[in-house]
Amino acid sequence: MKTSLKIILTGLLICLFFTNPTFVFAQQKARPTSKQSEIERKINALLARMMLAEKLGQLQQLDGEANGKYRPEHLELARNGLLGSTLNVRGADQSNELQKVAVEQSRLKIPMLFAFDVIHGYRTMFPIPLGESASWDLASIEKSAYIAAKEARSAGVHWTFAPMVDIARDPRWGRIAEGAGEDTFLGSQIAFARVRGFQGTDFSRNDRVMACAKHFAAYGAAEAGRDYNTTDMSVRTLREIYFPPFKATVDAGVGSFMTSFNSINGVPSTANPFLWKQILRDEWKSDALVVTDYTAVMELMKHGVALDEADAARLALNAGIDIEMVSRFVNKHGEQLIQNKKLSMATIDNAVRNVLRIKYQLGLFEKPYADATREQAMLLNAEHRKFARDSAIKSFVLLKNERETLPIKKSTKEIAVVGFLAGDKRNMNGNWAGDGREQDAVTVLEGVKNKLGNSAKVKFAGGCDAKCEDTSGFDEAVKLARDSDFTILTVGEDIDMSAEASSRTDIGLPGRQLELVKRIHQTGKPYAVVLMNGRPLTINWLAENSPAILETWFAGTEAGNAIADTLFGDANPGGKLPVTFPRSVGQIPIYYNALPTGRPFEAQNKYTSKYLDSPNTPLYPFGYGLSYTTFKLSNLQLSQNKISKTGELKVSVDVENTGKRDGAEVVQLYVRDFIASLSRPMKELKGFERVVLKAGEKRAVEITIRAKDLGFYSATNQYVVEDGEFGLTVGTSSDDEGLKNTFAIVK
Ligand code: BGC
Repeated sequence: MKTSLKIILTGLLICLFFTNPTFVFAQQKARPTSKQSEIERKINALLARMMLAEKLGQLQQLDGEANGKYRPEHLELARNGLLGSTLNVRGADQSNELQKVAVEQSRLKIPMLFAFDVIHGYRTMFPIPLGESASWDLASIEKSAYIAAKEARSAGVHWTFAPMVDIARDPRWGRIAEGAGEDTFLGSQIAFARVRGFQGTDFSRNDRVMACAKHFAAYGAAEAGRDYNTTDMSVRTLREIYFPPFKATVDAGVGSFMTSFNSINGVPSTANPFLWKQILRDEWKSDALVVTDYTAVMELMKHGVALDEADAARLALNAGIDIEMVSRFVNKHGEQLIQNKKLSMATIDNAVRNVLRIKYQLGLFEKPYADATREQAMLLNAEHRKFARDSAIKSFVLLKNERETLPIKKSTKEIAVVGFLAGDKRNMNGNWAGDGREQDAVTVLEGVKNKLGNSAKVKFAGGCDAKCEDTSGFDEAVKLARDSDFTILTVGEDIDMSAEASSRTDIGLPGRQLELVKRIHQTGKPYAVVLMNGRPLTINWLAENSPAILETWFAGTEAGNAIADTLFGDANPGGKLPVTFPRSVGQIPIYYNALPTGRPFEAQNKYTSKYLDSPNTPLYPFGYGLSYTTFKLSNLQLSQNKISKTGELKVSVDVENTGKRDGAEVVQLYVRDFIASLSRPMKELKGFERVVLKAGEKRAVEITIRAKDLGFYSATNQYVVEDGEFGLTVGTSSDDEGLKNTFAIVK
């Protein structure tokens, strides 16, 4: 492009930028996995003594019983050195019994590795990951993972299948609940924090577990939001949007990776050498252990890339996977594949090395057993519960609060708690609730009663269950609302609706719940909506009509207490959406960091990018969330206006709590690359900071942006940092006009 034209276009975009919304980055330092030569020596010595059957045994992972018990078959396999690991076997007693057989009765005494999905807590449950991500509080996210690790390790679990770091831009996909939402920058920061929380810097400790970055890759981009469906996208998008959170886990020293169920551009992840050899090993230099997802080797036949069982095993091993979860093709056909020269012994040995290395790094050869006394002291202890309450509070997002409907005055005499979800323990913990027990959870109803004691009458009516097909309980619920001074109306999804294999084409309130809301609304009595859900919902009617909406996701063991703290003003909600809430399914995919179009929206011009029947804008944008207090940003300062391609820029802004209550605000920094060799997003989060301010307090916040984090993948998939003008917006939501300035990266 001619320089003069580039200047004109840049000028034009800068003008537009000051009239349009636009947006940061601060990447944490990588911490490479250290190769310990001592361990490598031990591995070689052990490998030299292993028979092929024992090697294949190390590459096999089998499932336990649903209640955490091992299967009788496991004992026999362990005794013969034919089983390297299990998933779901847990509890000090169970894991020790099985471990004892492996360590004391097998020929080579190789300890077993016990894995489990510790996604948002082991016994003490924290908010589901999407909810926790709404806190934008990295220290808190790291700590909840640490507590989860502490509990899990005490119960004999060495390895968690978390964090799930799949970027998800499609709320129809039920597993959006398990990740950090739609944004690559936020998602990468959270991925790093979660790995650090689980593993620390040394996962041999008795309070840490090995983490697993899953599901590599692009599982969250399943076509049509339908779980397990195929994904198809450019390698550029993979590298720019979907890979960085995985790279962040490598930087945090993650011990393992899991394959995804989907195929990517036609190649199933479990048979995909591009992912495992080129990206993970060659480019990222990671020696993380690679496990397949559940029966994913078997599924290679259904994907239509493997002829038979042996072929599936061959494809997976040659693509670079180490452990086969649940299906047994590698085990069954490994020997034959070697004999037929379809697989080399070096490939098997390499996979076995990766397994043994982790077992040494976890310290299992020295300390194979869990300590039952420690387990007793750890699970659900008072400190963990307290932290669960704090982290739940931080996850709540206040979506609407007209005329200060919230907080509810504690002097209110008669409170109606309406909605099935408010009284159902099972729904507090959320999906993938580890070893969390229903009976441990505090419901909304219990939380409100705990809060108010005898000072108010608190009555409950379910109205209908979460599926809400039967409306026979509506009259009772409406009467209760009419007879009370204030109604807490809890609506949303059942935990099984936002989960694996739980895609939805309609993401509104399930069944006839909206009718119940409308009827309560018609009573004219004050009420607030408490939402429970694991995905964005299309709640347009509520957004327009209900006086107050508090998004609480599935908040874990202390959900009810945390919700009551927030509803009655002992806590002030400060969460921000980590994902866009669309107005309708028809808008999907809708995410804040979209590219510009050549025909941007103009109300008066038909031939611009828009819908005939809906605004382009979302119902609630990424980064959005209110508070019981108000905040003002001022005094935006840049350390300089020009930086080199290796330089950095310090951005500072004053944040003031201008209301009457203490509260938290998340300062968000977005950038826009005006003119580049490729079209760049209208705004991209490149930095943020959560600040807690007392009423009236003012503080300066400083965020650093590095030029090298402002690059992108070129059309030929090279990471490039280009010179030119950038716009910068500091605000409190992705749609916030905020404070603006520009800077340039110079040659
Ligand atoms: C899920 C994984 C999980 C595994 C083991 C699979 O169905 O996709 O995320 O780790 O099961 O429970």
